[in-house]
Order: sequence, then C-alpha cells, then structure tokens
Amino acid sequence: MTSPDIIIAIDGYSSTGKSSFAKLLAKELDFLYLDSGALYRGVTLFAQEQGYITADNVISPELEQALQTLDLHFSSDNSCFIGERCIEKEIRSMKVSSQVSPIATVPYIRSWVDCLLHRFASCGRVVMDGRDIGTTVFPDAQIKIFMTASEQVRARRRYDELLAKGQNPDLEEVKANLKERDYIDSHRETSPLARAEDSFLLDNSDMTLKEEVEWVKGLIRGRFLLYD
Ligand code: DC
Repeated sequence: MTSPDIIIAIDGYSSTGKSSFAKLLAKELDFLYLDSGALYRGVTLFAQEQGYITADNVISPELEQALQTLDLHFSSDNSCFIGERCIEKEIRSMKVSSQVSPIATVPYIRSWVDCLLHRFASCGRVVMDGRDIGTTVFPDAQIKIFMTASEQVRARRRYDELLAKGQNPDLEEVKANLKERDYIDSHRETSPLARAEDSFLLDNSDMTLKEEVEWVKGLIRGRFLLYD
C-alpha cells in the first residue's frame, strides 16, 4: 500500500505492544519508526550512570545542564545509542524501567525529548509511539491510535520480553512495575497519558500483530480514500 506522507501517532499503556506494532507498521509503509519511550529510557540510563538520580528517585537539578551534551539517537535499525555506544540492552532492563516514569514527569526532560522527536520527524512519513504523541508532541498527526490490552496480557508480554532478553524476571514484580508506571504516567502534571479525543482505540488483547497492521491500513485507506 502506498501511503501519503503522514504522521502516525501511537499512544497507550505500558506493554500493550506499541513498539512491535509501530515497528512493523513502519516497515510495511516504508516509514521511519521513532520510539519515544526509548529516549526517556536513554535519559534515565544516563542519569543513573552519571549519578543524577538517587535510588529513591531524587533527581539532581544539574541533569538539565548535562542534557545539553547528551548525544542520544537511533541507528537505522532503530537501536538506541548514546554517542557510539549501543544502549538497547541496558534501557530495557528492570533497573531502567523502575526509574523511567519519575524521569518522564520532569518538564524540562519532556521538552528536551520533544525537541529531539521533532528534529527526527522533520521529514514526515513517521510512525511514533509513546504516551503523549497524539495529545502533545504531534497533536496534528493525521492518524492517532490509542492502544490498550488486559492487565494479564500486558504483564505476560513484558515478562516474555525480559526472558527473551536473557533476564530473570519475576511475574509479580513485572505486574507491580506496570501498574506503578501506568499510575505515574496517567497522573503526572505535564502531558499525562491520555487518549486523544480524535484517536482510534485499539484493544489488542486478542489480536495478532498482523491483524493490528491490517486494521490500521484499513483506517488509512478509509481516511485517504486509497483503493489498492
Ligand atoms: O514505552 P516505554 O515503556 O518504553 O516507555 C518508558 C516510559 O517513558 C514510560 O513509563 C512513560 C515514559 N514515556 C512518556 O512519558 N512519554 C512518551 N511519549 C513515551 C514514554
């Protein structure tokens, strides 16, 4: 299918499969994929390693200045890098997951990430996933999707993902982390996770990735009157 040059914004709860869906959709449409959560995770890793965040989530104000020198970016295969160093494995760890939501509540960090996203997306033809893409970062995105799935399905997905990455997760800990992140993400003052009024709801508890992609292609066809 040949899609017009649009921005597709995908938001939703943690572990609803946003990234796998967005990645496959981008591949099928030949769009750029941008994982905004990876940027918040990258900032979290940076803050942990450089000592800008304590174990009880106190964030040093010096982080704001330090961000000006942080070179966080993606490679062509969507891996996240700080400078020359691939940080994909580290940013998906429980250690980063447990502190990313507090980091993502900080307004200057959100502005910094939003600037990067705008820069990366300047060429259009982008699928972007996160929590506030359709509401705050790209409120004019032509297609907005809000993803959800049952708590059980989401916890199992994150658990399997961590297992596949060679980690040794505890299902109860994974569930607790998801709940905590949903709460912080939906209740923070700046750009809380919320469904954009003009978004399409996608509950993928019982859907395959392929079905999800076909569903959104149908939306694009309908909206832009494409017939192929
Ligand atoms: O999608 P993810 O689990 O990798 O996101 C990690 C965290 O980053 C998540 O707990 C909330 C935050 N986030 C956000 O606040 N806004 C975004 N656009 C993307 C992620």
